[in-house]
Amino acid sequence: MRLAGKVAIVTGGTKGLGYAIAQAYAKEGCRVVCAAREPDEGRELPPVGEGDLAYHPVDVRDPDSVEALMRGTYEAYGRLDVLVAGAGVSRAGPAQGLDAAHWDDVISTNLNGTFLSVRSAVPYLLRDGGGRVITLSSALATRVAPGSSAYAASKAGIEMLTRVVAVELAGKPITVNCLSPGFIDEGMGRQLARNETVWDYYRGKIAAGRAGRAEEVADAALFLADDGSDYVNGHVLEVNGGLRW
Ligand SMILES: NC(=O)c1ccc[n+]([C@@H]2O[C@H](COP(=O)([O-])OP(=O)(O)OC[C@H]3O[C@@H](n4cnc5c(N)ncnc54)[C@H](OP(=O)(O)O)[C@@H]3O)[C@@H](O)[C@H]2O)c1
Repeated sequence: MRLAGKVAIVTGGTKGLGYAIAQAYAKEGCRVVCAAREPDEGRELPPVGEGDLAYHPVDVRDPDSVEALMRGTYEAYGRLDVLVAGAGVSRAGPAQGLDAAHWDDVISTNLNGTFLSVRSAVPYLLRDGGGRVITLSSALATRVAPGSSAYAASKAGIEMLTRVVAVELAGKPITVNCLSPGFIDEGMGRQLARNETVWDYYRGKIAAGRAGRAEEVADAALFLADDGSDYVNGHVLEVNGGLRW
């Protein structure tokens, strides 16, 4: 039980990679709060305080909603050890034709939402001896793909935010790291991995020759949450099967 007795919040934890991470944590003895705007219809998660895998509503774009998530979790379980800031959206399209509202949606969810979640979680993490912050980036933070301007810019911002906050918290018992998945056959990556024409192009860039699985991202998230990563801080961990791009 690598996370026995711990409590984690996973924003975007109701589906996709977030849910896979939440499940992996729960299997290791962690009580996990899966937070998103809506509960996932297919998964009946009980309210916070009533189960090892529970649901709490949050809109990560809203500072009050984010604070209510942190406070509600702390009050229900009496501690907070891990934040996974995974809530994210993507709006594809060339920058030249991108609707300003779509740009705002991506930046406010991915980048602002990560900032608000980290800012709000840290005081709770510090109450009981510190903990872990794990942000979610993407291979597209550092590789140029036409049509990804808003998403790529938001993820590049998250990587730098992660590095800066890790150093700002120096001397405090918190590590701040970032997971950067490549092409994963889950969540928002599934459509791409299952589109034969597009996928043929991308497959050639991956040393492993295949898309990643959600459990492979969850394994890396487990490493960043448990004691084995004590000396890993301000790091962006790529989980992409070896991308040559
Ligand atoms: N799948 C991939 O191949 C891949 C690759 C690289 C990086 N990533 C990153 O990994 C993370 C998870 O991606 P995914 O593929 O699992 O996506 P997904 O299946 O689309 O899930 C996204 C999650 O974010 C939540 N969310 C969206 N907007 C929100 C908001 N304003 N407030 C709170 N929650 C919100 C969604 O729930 P609601 O809509 O109900 O709020 C959902 O739980 C994202 O940050 C993504 O950028 C994914």
